Amino acid sequence: MSPFLLTRTLPADATDAALRADVRSGLTGHPKTLPPKWFYDAHGSDLFEDITRLAEYYPTRCEREILIARAGEIAAASGARTLVELGSGSSEKTRHLLDALPGLHTYVPVDVSESALTGAAEALLAERPGLSVHALVADFTHAIDLPDTPGPRLVVFLGGTVGNLLPGERAVFLRSVRERLAPGDSLLLGTDLVKDEATLVKAYDDAAGVTAAFNKNVLTVVNRELGADFPPEDFTHVALWDPEREWIEMRLRARRALTVKIRELDLVVQFEEGEDLRTEVSAKFREEGVRTELAAAGMRLDQWWTDEGGRFALSLATAD
Ligand code: SAH
Ligand code: TRP
Repeated sequence: MSPFLLTRTLPADATDAALRADVRSGLTGHPKTLPPKWFYDAHGSDLFEDITRLAEYYPTRCEREILIARAGEIAAASGARTLVELGSGSSEKTRHLLDALPGLHTYVPVDVSESALTGAAEALLAERPGLSVHALVADFTHAIDLPDTPGPRLVVFLGGTVGNLLPGERAVFLRSVRERLAPGDSLLLGTDLVKDEATLVKAYDDAAGVTAAFNKNVLTVVNRELGADFPPEDFTHVALWDPEREWIEMRLRARRALTVKIRELDLVVQFEEGEDLRTEVSAKFREEGVRTELAAAGMRLDQWWTDEGGRFALSLATAD
């Protein structure tokens, strides 16, 4: 078998149809919203990699610390021959797992960003020529046909990306992961933890403005793909901590009254001065909440690991 295969489970026109439907419903709703997966075109994926290197953005460093400390335990507990990674991005931190799994047969990174997948595979294969990579361009919130590779499987979902799903979406998602776990398979889930507001807000509103550029990139994507005329410079990036729902909410706030045309949807959208477009939430978790959500989806939390500072957690779970 070739060491690198890339399967597109989303034909280009399906992506286009989904983008149109999401933009239409999001911009005609109250409040206005845009779903986060459209952040990640090639430029958005690059900007996210820049975020992971910011001093303020602690989650990547904390999660890497846990992976380095626990890779041996994770490998021994899972015995994985297939490593499936959802929202794999650059696969940067995954190296620690790949290197710890002696019996690994195939690595299956899954992402909506084709550029992130090909970039990650190129870098991994340059260092590990023997590795077999079967990348899937797919939306992890939809049913995914996994390649027919040997078990046990370890499904990993890092970066706290599970927190970018709304609670109802998260329940559906975790249930769908559970349905794909055969006996002996396991799930490794990265979650950012509740902490003081100042630390959280800074992680999503850095001094250099990289996160602001990342947030505004979604407007550039809609401009390019749907012929819209959003003026990104007329929006301000806002990151707010919601203490009740325990999530960070990212918004783009209109600096002045605006009329935006989305040519390909035949849609005109008005913004009042100061009106917010909600682009993303990033939920923060506690151990009990993760345990409860996993249990509700039919999984058992077997291991809970945090970094030394207690800022981020990795959970290892199996089917009940
Ligand atoms: N796992 C990496 C990247 C996290 S950023 C890390 O921990 O650093 C989130 C990643 O999920 C991006 O690469 C983005 O393209 C991908 N993504 C977001 N929504 C997705 C979806 N619905 N389906 C598949 N991939 C998605
Ligand atoms: N999964 C990341 C997180 O929630 C995604 C992310 C980081 C993000 N910074 C962002 C999404 C800024 C939107 C805007 O931490």
